[in-house]
Amino acid sequence: MIRKKSVLVSATFSAIAFIFFLTVYCNSPSDNKNNSVEHEYLNHDSSVKYVGIETCRSCHSSIYNSFIQTGMGQSFNIASKKKSAAEFSSHTVVYDKISDMSYHPFFKGDSLYIMEFRIEKNDTIYKRIEKADYIIGSGQHTNSHMMNVNGYLYQLPLTWYAQKKKWDLPPGFEDGKNVHFSREIGIECMSCHNALPGFVENSVNKFTSIPRGIDCERCHGPGELHVKEKLAGKIIDTSKAIDFTIVNPKKLPYERQIDVCQRCHLQGNAIVKSGKTFYDFRPGMKLSDFIEVYMPKYKEHDDEFIMASHAQRLQLSKCFISTMKQSNDNSKSTGLTCITCHNPHVSVKVTGKQVFNNVCMNCHEDKRSCKEDLKIRAEKNDNCVGCHMQRSGTIDIPHVTVTDHWIKIPAKKETVNKLKEFAGIYCINNKQTDFVSKCEAYISYFEKFNGEKSSLDSAGKYLQFVLKPEELNSRIHLLFLKNEFEKIVAETKDIKPETITDPWTSYRIGQAFQNEKIFTVAEKWYAHTLTLAPENLDFLNKYGAVLIIQNKIDEGIQILERSLRKNPKQYEVLTNLGFAYLKRNDTGKAMELYNNALSLNPDFEQALLNKAGLYNYIGKSFEAKNILKQILKRDPQNTAVLALFKSL
Ligand code: HEC
Ligand code: HEC
Ligand code: HEC
Ligand code: HEC
Ligand code: HEC
Ligand code: HEC
Ligand code: HEC
Repeated sequence: MIRKKSVLVSATFSAIAFIFFLTVYCNSPSDNKNNSVEHEYLNHDSSVKYVGIETCRSCHSSIYNSFIQTGMGQSFNIASKKKSAAEFSSHTVVYDKISDMSYHPFFKGDSLYIMEFRIEKNDTIYKRIEKADYIIGSGQHTNSHMMNVNGYLYQLPLTWYAQKKKWDLPPGFEDGKNVHFSREIGIECMSCHNALPGFVENSVNKFTSIPRGIDCERCHGPGELHVKEKLAGKIIDTSKAIDFTIVNPKKLPYERQIDVCQRCHLQGNAIVKSGKTFYDFRPGMKLSDFIEVYMPKYKEHDDEFIMASHAQRLQLSKCFISTMKQSNDNSKSTGLTCITCHNPHVSVKVTGKQVFNNVCMNCHEDKRSCKEDLKIRAEKNDNCVGCHMQRSGTIDIPHVTVTDHWIKIPAKKETVNKLKEFAGIYCINNKQTDFVSKCEAYISYFEKFNGEKSSLDSAGKYLQFVLKPEELNSRIHLLFLKNEFEKIVAETKDIKPETITDPWTSYRIGQAFQNEKIFTVAEKWYAHTLTLAPENLDFLNKYGAVLIIQNKIDEGIQILERSLRKNPKQYEVLTNLGFAYLKRNDTGKAMELYNNALSLNPDFEQALLNKAGLYNYIGKSFEAKNILKQILKRDPQNTAVLALFKSL
């Protein structure tokens, strides 16, 4: 299957390379040219199930005991005093100046809570307390917190930074981007920080089961068959042969070995192949058949790296590139991979520096191969990794330093802060990505990483060369992001919703019709979307709203109430529902719902406006004005509100 695709690429590639100056290239050594055999592991069969860490523990207890002390072993768990690495004091308050909100973490019994509150003239005028159900992060670097609302997971707005020993907003919440309690935690995060959870496909963030930390099977594959055979006494001499019921990463060709680790240690713009999901990849398989990870490249900004980029950085090293070339030429499958230096069952915290330095010396036997002055080296105990693999800050997570895995001659400190020049995005784990993948990568880069607008043009260029069913999904997505709704309407007006199987495409078409004010058609598309993704709250809410817009009040209320039964803490939905009750002339219920919404988010402008409107409607213009003042206090330039204020 992959072969066919690469033929398609090479047939048109020269033409493309000619047109684009944004080159898409890959740093990994030439793919798959070595002759090492790709083994058929029996636990790659989809019928073989995961059995969980306790089962492995029953036979491999010493490995379990050591692994459970590592960062991976402690990556995720139920929030408790034992799990938390943080310090608590009644004085701990983190203040976010931009949103004028304060935060306080505290334990009550063994339950952890995060309180968000606002003080005005010594009065607490707003307070919201949520229980932290889970802690993500071992505490080697951070503890972040999550709540579980009927299976829907959200991040809480407070994180413990272990290296600096301080509480602060979570990564990504700083600089005015505080989204309070509404950041959804989806399968992408979860499948890197945990054993494989039960996930409701297309729900964004609904889980049916949530494990307690990365487990053995994330690196060894599902164990059902292995356990069955061992219990039946089918034992293999693993010093001479491979036990094909379970994967030992050490026995994989080096590319597949790195794939095991870079499934998680390669964070970027991940594009899931059509028909695949975040939980299909199993150790021993080729990662790029499932997920292709792209990174942006900036001219002369090699120093910057994100936290989970160990795999990418390592592969930039000359040590890696040269030795991998050799191992390809000799068709040997040994070289420099993660497990040359790391035993994943043992934490780096207890691995002495000498273990790493011995690895360097295996290849750089001659002490003189280092050109640095011997005296200077001696001052640093000749700690090779201290100079050649330096710890630095990451660009994605504040207050955290990690080890740069690009082994290189230490750079002289930069003094000038160069302007960043975007030089395209490129795939790290596959050199021969197809056009759909490249197109999706540019789209996703724009959408998720605030990428340059030009990314959408690049996406469009790749799309011209695609003639596959995925094309429609990508094209609709692209038009959607460019706000070209009339084009979507024109293109899809004769398509029957039932023929579309991707819920996101169906939703986007619905939204396009809604934006073009063709509500009856929008309604049909949303209804179809829900048959594909019934647990997706956003889709449900869109459907409810389009019904209310069309004055189908009872039906609309029914849908929004269904959504609130799934998650009662959605302030947007409470606001829409209040509006629906107002249309039914139930002002009491409307007011109650607006107040509920504001108790969850006191700054939610739509709820404030609706509430002001309601006050005005029942003749309380003084109260209405007070609410508008509240909005203007935070947003004095809001022209719509200013106009409204004058009109009252
Ligand atoms: C009933 C006992 C038993 C259980 C349970 C068990 N193993 Fe094993 N495992 C063994 C034995 C015995 C060997 C060595 C002989 C063999 O592989 O046939 C082994 C070997 C292995 C190997 C090395 C294979 C190789 O080719 O080098 C790995 C990896 C492994 N087990 C992982 C796991 C994982 C992961 C689990 C949990 C899913 C697990 N085992 C559960 C008994 C068990
Ligand atoms: C399922 C995703 C996943 C896989 C697969 C994975 N890692 Fe990790 N790894 C993580 C996460 C997440 C952390 C950070 C955990 C924390 O501290 O909360 C981590 C931490 C680590 C650490 C530092 C923690 C410590 O105590 O030493 C090392 C070293 C490491 N991984 C190496 C590897 C290697 C080598 C492989 C491949 C054989 C691998 N990892 C595979 C997700 C993964
Ligand atoms: C591709 C896999 C991947 C994805 C996706 C991912 N992470 Fe991570 N993340 C990692 C790895 C690996 C580390 C550990 C790096 C290290 O120890 O140097 C990490 C580190 C972290 C840390 C610091 C943890 C610690 O104590 O070391 C936090 C917090 C975190 N991630 C949260 C998240 C959240 C929230 C999401 C989803 C929005 C997410 N991550 C998505 C792989 C991933
Ligand atoms: C982050 C990836 C990762 C996780 C998680 C992991 N292992 Fe391993 N495991 C490896 C690697 C890599 C090797 C090969 C190490 C080597 O020999 O250099 C290995 C080797 C093994 C072996 C065979 C060699 C030996 O040391 O006997 C067994 C058995 C094993 N692991 C069991 C487990 C069990 C049980 C767990 C969970 C408690 C577990 N592993 C968790 C990566 C992992
Ligand atoms: C040449 C040796 C070497 C190789 C190869 C290597 N590492 Fe490391 N790694 C280190 C050293 C040294 C540290 C720092 C240990 C310490 O802090 O004591 C480290 C630390 C880590 C950490 C802990 C967090 C941090 O950044 O300090 C993670 C996670 C990690 N490595 C993952 C990986 C992964 C994944 C690979 C393969 C892509 C890999 N390493 C390959 C030497 C290596
Ligand atoms: C598997 C063998 C191997 C291992 C292990 C290894 N190297 Fe290398 N290293 C090489 C080779 C080969 C080169 C490239 C020599 C060349 O191209 O001139 C190289 C190059 C380098 C360079 C020059 C880099 C540059 O950008 O000019 C440094 C510095 C270096 N290694 C340091 C280390 C350190 C420190 C370690 C341990 C953390 C290490 N190496 C581990 C094989 C290795
Ligand atoms: C005090 C910091 C320091 C320590 C410790 C150190 N190095 Fe270096 N190393 C350097 C610097 C600086 C250079 C570049 C020197 C130059 O080109 O003038 C270098 C250069 C190198 C090179 C590349 C030489 C070339 O061909 O250009 C290699 C390989 C290397 N070191 C390996 C090692 C190994 C292996 C160790 C541990 C035994 C080690 N280094 C310890 C700082 C250090």
